[in-house]
Amino acid sequence: MSSSDNRFRRSQELFLRAAKVIPGGIYGHAGPAVALPGAFPYYAERAQGCRYWDVDGNEYIDYLCGYGPMILGHQHPEVEAAAARQQRDALCLNHPGPVMVELAERLVSLVEFSAWAVFGKNGSDMTTWSLQVAREHTKRRKILKVAGAYHGIGAWCTPGHAGLLEEDRIHIHDFNWNDIESFERLLKQFRGDIAGVIMTPFHHPAFHASQMPSPGFWSHIETACRREGIVLILDDIRAGFRLDLGGSHKFFGFEPDLICFCKAIANGHALSATLGRKELRIAASKVFLTGSYWNGPAAMAASMACLEIMEKEDTVSTLRSTGTMLMDGLVEAGRRHGYTMMASGPPAVPFLSFADDPSLRRQQRFCAEVTRRGALFHPHHNWFLSAAHTPQDIAATLRMADEAFAVIRDEGL
Ligand SMILES: Cc1ncc(COP(=O)(O)O)c(C=O)c1O
Repeated sequence: MSSSDNRFRRSQELFLRAAKVIPGGIYGHAGPAVALPGAFPYYAERAQGCRYWDVDGNEYIDYLCGYGPMILGHQHPEVEAAAARQQRDALCLNHPGPVMVELAERLVSLVEFSAWAVFGKNGSDMTTWSLQVAREHTKRRKILKVAGAYHGIGAWCTPGHAGLLEEDRIHIHDFNWNDIESFERLLKQFRGDIAGVIMTPFHHPAFHASQMPSPGFWSHIETACRREGIVLILDDIRAGFRLDLGGSHKFFGFEPDLICFCKAIANGHALSATLGRKELRIAASKVFLTGSYWNGPAAMAASMACLEIMEKEDTVSTLRSTGTMLMDGLVEAGRRHGYTMMASGPPAVPFLSFADDPSLRRQQRFCAEVTRRGALFHPHHNWFLSAAHTPQDIAATLRMADEAFAVIRDEGL
């Protein structure tokens, strides 16, 4: 769409003001430079259930869910009530409250291999801290990770290039997803000096189809780590609680040594956690961990409520079923219009792409057309389902997609 049709008038006014006082106007992956200027919302105003509204009053069915956290939908009444109750007593405390202990107990009972839990606010806090725990425990230096995987904004892993020193990454080494040979090469090269391997449960790089683990991949990694005394860190920040409430390793049939959660742990309240095996408890107690807001009890109360609802309502099954309906419907709608669509990743965290679209032009136009009709489809990041998406929402989305396919077909894309 053109930016002149007034759909984003207030957004663009705000953006011009922001450009003067905020570097880049909107930074990170929500910036219009990354997400198609004139096609995707710039600033959001409010949200409810699976819907949200931008500052121009445009309404969207939300398939990003705050880039993951809103697993039960926006403004879930029970989660918000639990947070508000806690907040009446205190907002930001000098000490942890009882709810931190209760939440650690709850998580440790949910995630079978774990014996302890610690908390932070963002995913990046936890991935970076986990690396330090692995290094402290093993007294080794090297960390192996998968090329193209996202683990946050630490200098050791940010996908950005600015402001980094060569030294930031001299002990970080990449192998390829599902490529045991490239993993074994690093194992051989650095044997005896590898502290940890950090991986997401399936590979979900931006701009590319997601990749599930091939048969035997995870068991190979797990066995090698055990044999070599390497700490296996599962970065379950994006998929956590969406595939299995006990952690995504259960879904794929292996066990890590540390697991990092964040998105979906408290339905939008700022909280992250790392859980670990008992053998890592001493290292975990030595690696310094704190932050200005990290004792805040409201997010932890929200998390207790969120976990309870997810368990009671079997959110994992709901997401699988609506996600499957969405992705099957999109593949089928694409076929009707002559397109071969590829749905990748688990249905709860899906990625859609067109076959034969290396420039992503077709995908961008398609997502832009669906978005302007009222369902937010990110063109190159995986999507998220929430428990608030109903089959009716999916059906409405599929009608929008049908029209969007027709539009891009007319454009000859
Ligand atoms: C797999 C994974 N790891 C780490 C992070 C970083 O989390 P945060 O943005 O909360 O720092 C993300 C965020 O998208 C993620 O998806």
